[in-house]
Amino acid sequence: MDAGVPPRSPVLGAAGAVLTAVRAGATMLRLGTDRTAQPRTTEGSPVPDVDDPRRVGMRTRMASTSPYESHESHERHENQERHEWLRRAQDRLAGRGSVVLHGPHGIGKTYAATALADARRERGELTLWTAPARAEQPLPYCALADLLRTVDDAALAALPAPQQRALRAVLRREPLPPGGLDTLALRLAVLGALGRLAAASAVLLVIDSAQWVDRPSTEVLAFVARRLDPARVHAVVTENTEPGGAPAYAPALCTGGALEIALPPLTQPEVAALLAGRGRPELPHWLTQRVYEASGGNPMFALEIARAIDHRGGPPDRAEPLPLTRRLREAVADRLDRLDPATRWVLLLAATAAQPTLGLLRHSAAARTGRTEQGDRTDPGARTDPTPRTDPGAPTPGAPGSVRCPCLRRGTAPHPPLQCRPLLLRQNQLGLRPPNTRHQATLHI
Ligand SMILES: Nc1ncnc2c1ncn2[C@@H]1O[C@H](COP(=O)(O)OP(=O)(O)O)[C@@H](O)[C@H]1O
Ligand SMILES: [Mg+2]
Repeated sequence: MDAGVPPRSPVLGAAGAVLTAVRAGATMLRLGTDRTAQPRTTEGSPVPDVDDPRRVGMRTRMASTSPYESHESHERHENQERHEWLRRAQDRLAGRGSVVLHGPHGIGKTYAATALADARRERGELTLWTAPARAEQPLPYCALADLLRTVDDAALAALPAPQQRALRAVLRREPLPPGGLDTLALRLAVLGALGRLAAASAVLLVIDSAQWVDRPSTEVLAFVARRLDPARVHAVVTENTEPGGAPAYAPALCTGGALEIALPPLTQPEVAALLAGRGRPELPHWLTQRVYEASGGNPMFALEIARAIDHRGGPPDRAEPLPLTRRLREAVADRLDRLDPATRWVLLLAATAAQPTLGLLRHSAAARTGRTEQGDRTDPGARTDPTPRTDPGAPTPGAPGSVRCPCLRRGTAPHPPLQCRPLLLRQNQLGLRPPNTRHQATLHI
């Protein structure tokens, strides 16, 4: 195997492939967990580097004021990277402006937002929270009504009558006007109401999952975010992004400049502490290590695999693949569905090839898309087999014995293990022939 490619996890199919490709530095895939990524600010002011001399001071202060206080008894040192980002987030919320927490599903955005909100609430700030879901996105003003549902009528009493009526109608405290909602009155009402609340105490708006905020709410919230005093009204906005990606929706919902934080994955000791702290019998060391590798430091993935191990009634054999829960399979499948077909094809290859070298992946991507990593067109007359010239030792995928997963080898296991099924399903969608008919039968169960 290529020295740059770490041992592949047999778990999570394409999720493992994503990690493999990323760790190998396959930037052409535009996927990955960039542990060195620095936070950006939308206002353009540079954020101090982690190696900034002030960092030592931050570390000292972190010990008593970390937003992860309740979790840090035995993992204070290991949590350093997350603490660092969250310390900066706290500083931002204590001053002017907002924080965007982004990253893949399960990386800990809600968890971090909760910790930040708890810390602000402890300091006497009013916290308003909405957590929209995909299913609610078609409901106009759903996120706005959810955010302001705890604001009582007394706080709206000073608003001019048309504004009050518009906001009370959105909150369904009175019927919608027969002529339809006055949307300008609504914007002014939300601006006025939040401004008045902020005069009494600083206000924190938490919008957990910007990508699911319905459009009418987005428009109102962006209108007020541009006008509210960022020293009095702050926002913590989360958004699902793929590793290496930037948030698309959250910055517009932020007051003042937004500190954008791509939450880094948990470290190995953090995952070990997370698993050990579940109040379940401890997993053997080798299994903890495998869960860490399979999860790639995603706490939701790690917890779900551990849950599947519990349901299984005990640790799997060392040679066995790790079990998965349905929730995890669906989460992985959902992420795969959002990738373009060429990327999915390369991930499938990375997940199933016996030797997923970087050369093999590069060459296959170029053959599949007709473009090299540099954007040049490949020679149409060039050979189309995916074995790279630079990597003569790599076997051709699809050839008997060349695939890693036993269930994908011709004429072997009748039932692919659970973790292979999302991959096999994707393989089907991508038009790659399943290796044999028995697999096809399994896919239709
Ligand atoms: N730093 C952490 N320490 C312990 N558990 C965590 C941590 N971050 C996340 N979790 C747990 O991982 C799971 C996924 O976290 P969550 O915040 O819901 O992810 P996201 O909002 O990014 O999808 C939750 O069960 C959460 O309690
Ligand atoms: Mg969440």
